[in-house]
Amino acid sequence: MIAASDTTTGIGHGKVILLGEHAVVFGLPALAAGLAATVRAHASPGAGTLSAPAWQLEAQVGDESLPGQAVARLLERLHVEPASLDFWLEAEVPARAGLGSSAAMAVAIARAVAARTGAGESEVQAAVAAAESVFHRAPSGIDAAAASRGCAGRFDKAGGWRDLPVASPFELCVGISGKGHDTGALVARVQALCEGTPVARKLIDAMGDLALAGMSALAAGDILALARLFDMAHGLLAGVGVSCRELDDMAHTAREAGAMGAKLTGAGGGGAVIAIAGEHGEEVLRRWRAKGSYGFITTIGHA
Ligand code: MEV
Repeated sequence: MIAASDTTTGIGHGKVILLGEHAVVFGLPALAAGLAATVRAHASPGAGTLSAPAWQLEAQVGDESLPGQAVARLLERLHVEPASLDFWLEAEVPARAGLGSSAAMAVAIARAVAARTGAGESEVQAAVAAAESVFHRAPSGIDAAAASRGCAGRFDKAGGWRDLPVASPFELCVGISGKGHDTGALVARVQALCEGTPVARKLIDAMGDLALAGMSALAAGDILALARLFDMAHGLLAGVGVSCRELDDMAHTAREAGAMGAKLTGAGGGGAVIAIAGEHGEEVLRRWRAKGSYGFITTIGHA
């Protein structure tokens, strides 16, 4: 047992992309929010073990697993010996669900390490970006930014993250399809589609416009308008080939249960769906559950 005083802790948030996923890779704006659900990393002197019981993850920094590789890259950027620390993770964010678990893990670990070494915020962010590129090849950086901030915000590649006030906090249903996905492969597929079929780029541009409209709706507290944008965005995301039967079905199920709008969130191909359902939230969860999918309700714009 390691003395508590030898342990440092860092936290990263899960995230949902409300509007603009995939478009953000093309340099367009996206609207995202950190979740109250976090990953908490505890770092203590040790031999490079990486353990996350909630994810059934037992790895070694630098081994062949993606987390092992990612944390090795992160430590390298922070000038820390790979086998000098043990990491124990308390994860509330479900893994591989499109809710930014890898970014939340990287932010939590980088902060736990920075609390020992005194590394500054820019070094922490560079280390997180290095870890994220192991998981997702060439990510836009939105997951890392949302994991770091934990609130609603606007992100684009040129300008980075800007916190956005939420005029009327609202409840969001989050449904986990249980189907795995490969973010890097989906991003590459959308890029190939736009190269081979240039008109597809207009769908991407429209997704960026929807994100801007979502920011206006959020600022005005017009949650119904935001929900309608969700439906449009889901259609566009399906149009560029990143939805699937499970996500389409979950979005339809949410609407049938009374949701005003629903869409896939994140890379797609599996992962998660979000819906704005107001008083029908519990009914949305019940119907998802009846079809074998787990869901929860989170508040966007929590203090
Ligand atoms: C993944 O959460 C969001 C994508 O836009 C990829 C990225 O921004 O790196 C699909």
